[in-house]
Amino acid sequence: MTTSENFYDTVGGEETFSFIVHRFYEQVRTDDILGPMYPPDDFDGAEQRLKMFLSQYWGGPKDYQEQRGHPRLRMRHANYPIGVTAAKRWLTLMSSALDDAQEQLSLTDEQREAIWEHMLRAADMLINSNPDPHDQP
Ligand code: HEM
Repeated sequence: MTTSENFYDTVGGEETFSFIVHRFYEQVRTDDILGPMYPPDDFDGAEQRLKMFLSQYWGGPKDYQEQRGHPRLRMRHANYPIGVTAAKRWLTLMSSALDDAQEQLSLTDEQREAIWEHMLRAADMLINSNPDPHDQP
C-alpha cells in the first residue's frame, strides 16, 4: 500500500464494494426476516444506498453525502423495528457476502476483519427495539 492509497483503493474500490453489497442484497430479497422489511419495489435503490455509504465510509467517492446528506443511520432506521434477531440475520448475510468477496476478490484476512468490525459496531448501534419484534411467542 502506497501512502496515497486509502483502504477503499487497497481492497479494490468500486468492484469490491459493488460485489459485497450485491451478494448481500441477493440474499436479503428472499430472507424470511429481512426480506419483508425492505421496500419491495426498491431493492436496487437500497443496494445503491448501502454501496454509496460503505464506499464513502472507507475513503471512496462521496456520492452518499451528495445524494443523501449526512448518514444519520440511527434516524434512518427508526421506521424499521430492529431487534437482536434482525441484527444477527443482517450480520449473517453480510458475513456470507464477505466470505464470497474474500474468496473471489482475494481480500486478506485483515481486510475482511476491518470491514467486519465496522459492520458489527454499526449493526449493534442500530438495534432499536426491545422486546425483539421477531421473537417467536
Ligand atoms: C441491524 C440490522 C439492519 C437492518 C434490519 C437494516 C434495515 C434497513 C432497511 C429496511 C433499510 C431501508 C432500505 C432503503 O430504502 O435504503 C436500510 C437502509 C440503510 N441501511 Fe440498514 N439495516 C441494518 C443494518 C445496517 C448496517 C449495519 C448498516 C451500515 C453498515 C446499514 C446501512 C444502511 C444504509 C446506508 C441505508 C440507506 C440509508 C438512506 O440513505 O436512506 N444498515 N436498512
